[in-house]
Amino acid sequence: MRILLLNGPNLGRLGERNPEVYGSTTLAEVVERAARHAAERGSTIDAFQSNHEGALIDRLEQLDFEAVVINPGALGHTSYALRDAIEGVNRPTIEVHISDVHARESFRHVLVLEGVVSGQVIGRGVDGYIEAIDMLLDGAK
Ligand code: DQA
Repeated sequence: MRILLLNGPNLGRLGERNPEVYGSTTLAEVVERAARHAAERGSTIDAFQSNHEGALIDRLEQLDFEAVVINPGALGHTSYALRDAIEGVNRPTIEVHISDVHARESFRHVLVLEGVVSGQVIGRGVDGYIEAIDMLLDGAK
């Protein structure tokens, strides 16, 4: 399975940004781990990170993948445009949040991609990306 691994705003600074919340693993390490895990299961990862909503939507519209793992960052609380894009591309999509957004500020409790994503992995640290890949490979629709 060809999996698109999308990361939204501020996730390019993973490992340096608020390490007490998000840990010390960098995004490059996350991508490497994800790619290795996917390869062990006969799949591939294409990774893309952007701080820009439109760039994430443009990447989705390329439709050169069979499934998506997305950590939308704060766009997951606000972006109906990203929600529409995910609904529109019609591919199984798992939403990841490294931190437990439900235990943080109330604005983080709203997850606007709910309803168009096939599943969510929340508060599992960077292991959540691996769990998301497994959910897709184990048949999330
Ligand atoms: C995050 C949680 C969001 O609330 C936050 O804006 C992020 C990271 C997470 O992975 O825990 O940028 O998506």
